[in-house]
Amino acid sequence: MADPTASKPAAAAPAASATPAAKKQQPASKPGEVVNKSRRGLIWACIWGYLGINFLMFLRFFFPRALYEPNTVFNIGYPADFAMGIDQRYLMTNRVWVIREPDRLFVIYARCTHLGCTPEWKSAENKFKCPCHGSGYDSEGINFEGPAPRPMDRAFISLDPTGKIIVDSSRLFIDDARAGVNHFNDPGAFLSV
Ligand code: FES
Repeated sequence: MADPTASKPAAAAPAASATPAAKKQQPASKPGEVVNKSRRGLIWACIWGYLGINFLMFLRFFFPRALYEPNTVFNIGYPADFAMGIDQRYLMTNRVWVIREPDRLFVIYARCTHLGCTPEWKSAENKFKCPCHGSGYDSEGINFEGPAPRPMDRAFISLDPTGKIIVDSSRLFIDDARAGVNHFNDPGAFLSV
């Protein structure tokens, strides 16, 4: 019969009693958990990145890539507002020059008839000069040097009921000797003043 006073075998030491050196050797978490955590982080980063890009693309719809061109029909004031000669007030905004002569007023569309550059008015030389390939036009826009094949076109011009000049640069009058056409004296190509 067993002796009840006999001492029991010593119980396993509690974890709390582990030595500091042993504690150090225990990993903070299992290696598989670390890999899962970083993988989860990567997946979330991809999801948020994808959603962010889609949101930016959605916002882009509110800012369409529209090209704002000036109106082709515009009012340039009264004939008396123009002194004799070349008026460049509407060159930057509407790409036209207004030409006032003793008996008439007309509007030249500022586009070189060679390849479409915008010529410059050289007042000292009394001519329009194209900076691209050197075409020259006289003060009425008639070509006389360089590769331009014909004079610069003229825009439709009319008076509204109040006497103001309305220009329509979408309606152009051409003079092309090669084709045997000259519309510079047609109604709408000039105003008698
Ligand atoms: S485009 Fe004007 S000369 Fe060529």
